[in-house]
Amino acid sequence: MIELYKVEVVYDDGYKGLTEIDLHIERGELVYVTGNSGAGKSTLLRLLYADLMPSRGIVKVEGQNLGNMNHKSVAFMRRNVGVIFQDYKLLEDATVYDNLALPLEIYYMKKSVIRDKVYNLLKMLDIFQHRDSVVQKLSGGEKQRVAVARALLNEPFVMVADEPTGSLDAKNADKVMDMLLHKSAKGTTILIATHDQRIIKEFPGRVIQLDRGKLIYDSKAKGKVNV
Ligand SMILES: Nc1ncnc2c1ncn2[C@@H]1O[C@H](COP(=O)(O)OP(=O)(O)O)[C@@H](O)[C@H]1O
Ligand SMILES: [Mg+2]
Repeated sequence: MIELYKVEVVYDDGYKGLTEIDLHIERGELVYVTGNSGAGKSTLLRLLYADLMPSRGIVKVEGQNLGNMNHKSVAFMRRNVGVIFQDYKLLEDATVYDNLALPLEIYYMKKSVIRDKVYNLLKMLDIFQHRDSVVQKLSGGEKQRVAVARALLNEPFVMVADEPTGSLDAKNADKVMDMLLHKSAKGTTILIATHDQRIIKEFPGRVIQLDRGKLIYDSKAKGKVNV
């Protein structure tokens, strides 16, 4: 469950990235965040993994207010929110396997448990054959699937994806979307910032639209809101 109450984000230079956002997302919903470039999509997503604090209003994820957390709770919260970035943010010099195994070793998990977990994810996303390749040798589509696998490692209850299919052809975009839909059916709440109308049409979900920092449309509200 994600709750935003009258949320405003003001950047350091005074620019209002978001204004008066009221939004409720139930567990297991798949929500597309749409809007032109500069509308505030990334700003909204950053709030949800506590990369940005609201200047006004309240942001809650699973009942936890993200506005007043100490460092320890931020770390704990981030473990429960999987993030997929458009530019992947992978360790380019490391192998696919290590990119996925290293974050788990931090939790002192047994090597055999880590191996099973990583192999399963790689098979599901059809990149198992690349497990020993160095990331920088992979294509964009393969890298994006590694990034999706990494976001799924901790079985997060919220997944946030910023233009996850932006650099993918239709076939690879579909693989990523199949995986996200499968997770959402199992109860993971998913937010996807995207311009990709084909994806929105083919993989049904709730659609919200931002315009200059305002929420101007919500398919769940069946009409225009807040204009
Ligand atoms: N760190 C920042 N400082 C000032 N303005 C920013 C910053 N980050 C984003 N913005 C501005 O906030 C607005 C929304 O940005 P963003 O959320 O990245 O939009 P989108 O993801 O929809 O393209 C844009 O006008 C952008 O220039
Ligand atoms: Mg963006």
